[in-house]
Amino acid sequence: MADTQLMDKLVSLCKRRGFVFQSSEIYGGLGSVWDYGPLGVELKKNVKDRWWRAMVHARDDIEGLDAAILMHPRVWEASGHVAGFTDPLVDCKHCKNRFRADDPRIKGTPGQPDAQCPVCGSRGTLTEPRLFNLMFKTFMGPVEEQAAVVFLRPETAQGIYVNYLNVMQSSRQRIPFGIAQIGKAFRNEITPGNFIFRTREFEQMEMQFFVQPGTDAEWFERWREWRMQWHRDLGLTPARLQWHQHGPDELAHYARAAFDIQYQFPFGWQEIEGIHNRGDFDLGRHQEYSGKKLEYFDQAANQRYLPYIVETSAGADRVTLTLLVDAYREEEVEGETRVVLGFHPAVAPIKAGVFPLVKKDGMPELATELYHDLKRRFPAFYDDSGAIGRRYRRMDEAGTPFGITVDGETLQARTVTVRHRDSMQQERVGLDRVADFVAERL
Ligand code: GAP
Repeated sequence: MADTQLMDKLVSLCKRRGFVFQSSEIYGGLGSVWDYGPLGVELKKNVKDRWWRAMVHARDDIEGLDAAILMHPRVWEASGHVAGFTDPLVDCKHCKNRFRADDPRIKGTPGQPDAQCPVCGSRGTLTEPRLFNLMFKTFMGPVEEQAAVVFLRPETAQGIYVNYLNVMQSSRQRIPFGIAQIGKAFRNEITPGNFIFRTREFEQMEMQFFVQPGTDAEWFERWREWRMQWHRDLGLTPARLQWHQHGPDELAHYARAAFDIQYQFPFGWQEIEGIHNRGDFDLGRHQEYSGKKLEYFDQAANQRYLPYIVETSAGADRVTLTLLVDAYREEEVEGETRVVLGFHPAVAPIKAGVFPLVKKDGMPELATELYHDLKRRFPAFYDDSGAIGRRYRRMDEAGTPFGITVDGETLQARTVTVRHRDSMQQERVGLDRVADFVAERL
């Protein structure tokens, strides 16, 4: 299947089955903003829950935080976003479209007579590149005046830095320790696209680990290893994951070293998570701009210092897209195409479909009882309409790993048919065992 075709098919499946819808679709949509439907919200929630479990619940040295989206405007001066979070853009004076200055579709040099607009084809109408800040602005309070301008955060990290002393003191942590946060971030991206890969509103899963200067390189390596393993444990194809090290001209203004975890999407290898050694840039800047001391006093060493920070920053939407791309496959079965989302059972939105073989002989009653029983433990779905083969196919498309059919034998032998999504093999399991059977495989 051609790569562009795969993305088209995925976008259409996501809409048809309720994973992802275009935002405000009935009004023609809003550029690069997406809504998650009933299956999508479960899938993304599973990603976030697994991250939270691995980063916060399973460790003693990381605390959780949920900081506000709106922050004091000085935060973004200190962070470097007001001055530096920009893209060079050019405008076409003829068709009024706006492009990144490095848009490969532009022929010639913007600002010069030879430059050609990639949309309307006019020559000499492209302006010189101008810097454009990617932060969304809004106004706080009743008057739209300059003094009340606030930004929608372009990353969640800053909420962690400004709270690091609050968290450390209230939770009685000592360095080395980390703070983890999941939350929305906003960027007025100029070339968004590829479905939910690059959007203007997205969710980040970020963790900032505070360490003693000099131990940062060691922690950086540990975190690299742990984060790559986390992605592998989602069930992603290992050969489609790789490292990309940032060269000196790629490094963000705050980073001493940076590696991206990349996934091989149909549109190429792209970043899904960044691991950064941020040194003392962030705490140093917030100390300078706020005038508040942010140093740590190490009692054992009788030493005072600004901690260094190792950051792990993943996009919840990008990881969700990775799962969808990795899981999508089409197979020929008995002359028909079967579409399957082969999710790892742990991330699948629905864990089991429950089907009465026919709508009589007490099967619907027994199946409904079983469905309610399962639903108390994990997301399940009840379906009694259409041929059993069609019901299985619908669950294959939703990525449901187990199909459970109540049939004639159930009434006599108290067993059900469990059909496995990937192999399509069936086995009989005791009615009273089936909830455990599924739960053990999640
Ligand atoms: N605090 C560091 C930071 O924000 P980043 O590399 O700009 O670093 C981290 O972003 C992660 O956030 C990316 O790896 C990606 O998964 C996600 N991300 C960034 N911009 C995004 C966008 N426009 N749409 C979706 N996800 C995005």
